[in-house]
Amino acid sequence: MPKHAFRTVPWVHDDDTPVETPDQAFLRISRRFWHVVARSGDVVPGGLVPVTLLDEQLVLGRTLDGELTLLDDLCAHRGVRLSMGALTSGGCVRCPYHGWEYDLDGRCTAIPQLDHDRIPATARVTSYRVAEQAGMVWACLVGEDEQPAPPPELTEADDAGFDLFVGEPLDWACSSFREIENFCDVAHFSILHADTFGNGREPVIAPYEVTLLDDGRTLSFDAAYPACDPFAEPDAEGHRPSFPSVFGYRVLAPFTVRLEGAAGPGTVMWIHSTPTSARTCRVFWDTAFPVEARTDFAAYAEFEEKVWGPDRAMVEGQRPELLPLDLTEELHLPFDRFAVAYRRLLGEMGYRL
Ligand code: FES
Ligand code: FE
Repeated sequence: MPKHAFRTVPWVHDDDTPVETPDQAFLRISRRFWHVVARSGDVVPGGLVPVTLLDEQLVLGRTLDGELTLLDDLCAHRGVRLSMGALTSGGCVRCPYHGWEYDLDGRCTAIPQLDHDRIPATARVTSYRVAEQAGMVWACLVGEDEQPAPPPELTEADDAGFDLFVGEPLDWACSSFREIENFCDVAHFSILHADTFGNGREPVIAPYEVTLLDDGRTLSFDAAYPACDPFAEPDAEGHRPSFPSVFGYRVLAPFTVRLEGAAGPGTVMWIHSTPTSARTCRVFWDTAFPVEARTDFAAYAEFEEKVWGPDRAMVEGQRPELLPLDLTEELHLPFDRFAVAYRRLLGEMGYRL
């Protein structure tokens, strides 16, 4: 029986005060980071979109002037979902039930049933930090008085020398940390992905080093790998031609990965694993291609879909669902260097899973 099966979670301290469960600790600590909550193109001017982040139901909106707002998706009056309402031409979110209106900061600005305009100060919903970068809408749930972690820098995504492909988000029933580890796990390429880019004849992983950069958050490693050409015809023995390549990983812990070279020379791919809850995630991903590559985006999307499928099956079946940060709970070998460094760093960030 695996070791984690014996793990018990204390629910109270000795003095009977409740303690945080690992899920609650995950949700609390993750609030200070920036998370992708939508693709920019999915939030049209004048539109509202319901989004889930860290177990919070939120409503994301864009005014006709292009300004973004992110509020609790819960009307202060009778708890109706504001995302079922509409954005007014004046830039307020209007509840569909009794027509109360909230401004971009969540203050109630209109209550149609009152015959005066003295709106109680308590008529408001919580608003959150929201920003836009690299074709994505980002949110951070820290309180107004707290300091959010710096957002990731995604330079190539807004660079005119690159064409940006923004993929369809993926909803996976696994923790974000399991998904990030899978994306950075070089050791499975030759086994799980032998029908696409994986090289079934080369399972041995060349040694690589993982470095923590000066920002204290970014884990960097370059993994040499003889990838196969996924679009080439297999030979008589079923093997496709391979070529030496280097997968340049920069993992901006905890939730964003930048990967250089995986979609061809000069390409940069990002994944943003957004924790919709402690045990589920929505993966946003995009790839910047040098303009001169004239990439066939439809063929590229089809290829990635073929790669994501088996990855999803693996991570959704992993147990325990929360990534074990105690390094004695799973077996780590030299080619798992990234996983070891990532788990240690998450522990230093305060996660206790
Ligand atoms: Fe929203 Fe009444 S429930 S206005
Ligand atoms: Fe994979």
